[in-house]
Amino acid sequence: MEIIEVRGGRTLSGSITPPAAKNSVLPILAATLLCGGPCRLRGIPRLSDVDTSLALLAAVGARAGWCGRDVMTSPVPLLRGDIPPGLAGAMRSSVFYLAPLLVRVGQVRLPVPGGCRLGPRPVDIHLDGLAAMGARVELASDAVILRRAGRLHGADFTLRLPSVGATETLLMAASCAEGTTVLRGVACEPEIEDLAGFLSTCGARITGAGTPVIVIRGRAGGLDGCSYTPLPDRIAASTYAAAVAAAGGEITIRRCRPAHFGTFLDFLRAAGCEVRNGTNAVRIRRDPSLPLKGGQEIFASAFPGFATDAAPLAAAVLLTADAPSRVYDGLFQNRFACAAGFAALGADVCARGRELQIAGGAELTGTVVSAPDLRGGAALVVAGLAAAGKTCILDEGHIRRGYQSLPAELASLGAACRSA
Ligand code: EPU
Repeated sequence: MEIIEVRGGRTLSGSITPPAAKNSVLPILAATLLCGGPCRLRGIPRLSDVDTSLALLAAVGARAGWCGRDVMTSPVPLLRGDIPPGLAGAMRSSVFYLAPLLVRVGQVRLPVPGGCRLGPRPVDIHLDGLAAMGARVELASDAVILRRAGRLHGADFTLRLPSVGATETLLMAASCAEGTTVLRGVACEPEIEDLAGFLSTCGARITGAGTPVIVIRGRAGGLDGCSYTPLPDRIAASTYAAAVAAAGGEITIRRCRPAHFGTFLDFLRAAGCEVRNGTNAVRIRRDPSLPLKGGQEIFASAFPGFATDAAPLAAAVLLTADAPSRVYDGLFQNRFACAAGFAALGADVCARGRELQIAGGAELTGTVVSAPDLRGGAALVVAGLAAAGKTCILDEGHIRRGYQSLPAELASLGAACRSA
């Protein structure tokens, strides 16, 4: 159990650079299994989900490890298709190993994937797409088993909803299938383009990534290796932005892509922050003597909509605003498990299904709260910055899945925040 201690009342200043995006790094690590040559992934954060991925790669027989801040992988002739239950259950991203192991081994067994408990997280679209490409799918009580008789083949497949993970699964499978695959209704998140960028650098032939239709001409002979730098983490950047909005002060987020979290920056502008975008940096200022503006209606949806992962962060900012607001999550049923922590800090909030109603005007006071999940935990840290006195966030490992060291990152901006 980690305890994050935050003392509110200090303004933030300085600059910070977000690390590589967790949600790019995790699928890319799985995709290295498709590569016939070595890969070097540059500037990878030491997240616990990255450690779990490296353990998973080792468990299926692959070679991957740290080389300074980079992760190096080298190809091996033989892999195993059995994913250990402990590793599958440790993160949602174990699902990314379905396609590469099916391609490489011919069969894969994935016990139930873990991850944040944000509501039901089925994998039917991953399975339907792989079945359309020739996989045989068997559902056991505790695992899903996929087999292929010959090679996977190209298909024309429409996703029933734009799942990020399913789009990534099918991109990986199609890159090494025989023939052309057309994926329709896919997710357009920047991390999809990033995975496509990695696969293309390895020799895959992909057009349309970042749009709703992706066309992949398969390279059944497999991919090459490459050196690749994943894109900056837009949710980590949104977290720093939320922190300065909650605490007050002025910070610069460097080496980021402001367009990737533009909806969050627009939200901060509407809340009364001053936001100045550069090409690869953004400066955010909030005068702590002025109240934040409430009266906001936020609807989280697929990209380019408001990011679901940033919805609890927005809520944390709005707790003290001058009028009531509502945040609705169109993707996950249980996004606002952090509401109990907000209430313990003195906020007047009400979570009704997918919606969080925030009365605003709260005078937050530090207390002991529990991180219910990754982004909800980060949101409680942000709320702690706006609370009087000491807030202790008890965390059973959620926050480290997505932030290398959130307390140290915020402390570098002047926050009184540490891992106790
Ligand atoms: N869905 C299905 N069937 C499927 C796949 C998804 O019904 O086969 C549903 C899900 O239940 C959910 C919705 O579709 O209601 C969206 O899920 P999606 O597949 O898009 O999400 P994901 O791939 O499981 C990724 C990120 C999440 C992020 C979501 C949405 C990774 C490793 N995770 O999850 O990030 O919230 O996309 O943008 O890329 C986080 O970083 O904390 C996190 C949860």
